[in-house]
Amino acid sequence: MRWIRAAGRGLLAAAVVLAGYAGLGAPAGEPAAHTGGRGPVTLVTAGDLTDYLDPVLDDWNRTHPGEEATLVELPDSADETRAQMVTSLRSGSSRFDVLNIDVAWTSEFAAAGWIAPVDPGRFPLDSFLPPVVDTATFGGRLYAVPYVTNAGLLYYRSDVLAAEGEEPPRTWAELERLAKEVAPRHGLEGYAGQFLPYEGLTANVTEVVRSAGGSILGDEGARVTVDSAPAREGLRFLTDGVREGWIPEESLGWKEEESRLAFQQGRLLFLRNWPYVYAVANGEGSKVAGKFGAVPLPGPDGPGVSVLGGSNLAVNTHSRHPETAADLIAYLTSEPVQRRVLTEGALPPVRAGLYSDPELVRDFPYLPTLRRSVLAAEPRPKSPRYDQVSLVVQAVVHDAMAGRQTPRQAVARLARELGSIAREG
Ligand code: GLC
Repeated sequence: MRWIRAAGRGLLAAAVVLAGYAGLGAPAGEPAAHTGGRGPVTLVTAGDLTDYLDPVLDDWNRTHPGEEATLVELPDSADETRAQMVTSLRSGSSRFDVLNIDVAWTSEFAAAGWIAPVDPGRFPLDSFLPPVVDTATFGGRLYAVPYVTNAGLLYYRSDVLAAEGEEPPRTWAELERLAKEVAPRHGLEGYAGQFLPYEGLTANVTEVVRSAGGSILGDEGARVTVDSAPAREGLRFLTDGVREGWIPEESLGWKEEESRLAFQQGRLLFLRNWPYVYAVANGEGSKVAGKFGAVPLPGPDGPGVSVLGGSNLAVNTHSRHPETAADLIAYLTSEPVQRRVLTEGALPPVRAGLYSDPELVRDFPYLPTLRRSVLAAEPRPKSPRYDQVSLVVQAVVHDAMAGRQTPRQAVARLARELGSIAREG
């Protein structure tokens, strides 16, 4: 459900971000309206998978008169959401107080000065899964608080593999063999991920490159490391798939939802996607409910590497109410709300303890696999110009997957184009 409420704001004086930090906390018990940095706030987020947030914010609003939080939902796609946030932040607008930003954008938003540094002492970072904290850090400072995490998983049709006496693949070679030989026998396509040119493709590319032991950028964007044999091997996995027909050409136009639907309609043997698919594809209207499993992504010689997805909560540098904004972030990352993120939102929480909670593991049996995948996951390339880096990665690899360039040519072009971004940066 999508709903946008305009933020009703008074003309309160702009609040100073105390000591450079959002969220030093105002003295307890002071009336909100008269305290610097306190008042109504907006929470802006991509518009998908947000139904559970309505009751979560209703609970906050009941206990925080004068500091109500209003949800502002932007488009579902990561790229469009980013574009709208950036337009607003660039103009210096205070319309968005708390921003639910993709983990991939933290460096760009921090380097541009759009989000305020966060006081690490204010949030229980020790109780989060360790890699998620890194996604909120840039230049040695914390700029956001981890909220939802994500790791790519390999979904497979357990009914089909069982009928063939096969195990889920652990290597690319095994996946290719099953996708080439077994899938057609069952009238299925082999493998798909998110291959439309947008942020999802960058995530898929980063995974294959990291799984082969390579990387795209180093030193927070200052060094280009992509020109390597592992990067070529990673790209080859994707380009071979399309050329040999075990990755359907149609998937070059798929984002998360299109690929989930194809899997859910019983058209694919294997799918790379995020954990939300587990709950949805087991739900009503799914042809594969109870007929699939999820394992860590395969790599060239054994388990591969997932990118770390998810989102962090950050405070707009121009927020008029940064104290309330920081309190809202503390609420959204508290244990009870993090539990609801999973049970009501089907999204992976950042609090480590929830992954071994017996009741939750019973209801969400993929939690241990997910925990392993998140702990082994790698962040996307960090760069103050991440948007441009991502656009180059998407365009070049999409061309290669469409057969217009070899992996060797594609990697050379990546090195060239990323090099000029790094030099300008
Ligand atoms: C998911 C991930 C996010 C990623 C996006 C790509 O939302 O959580 O990190 O950038 O997918 O489409």
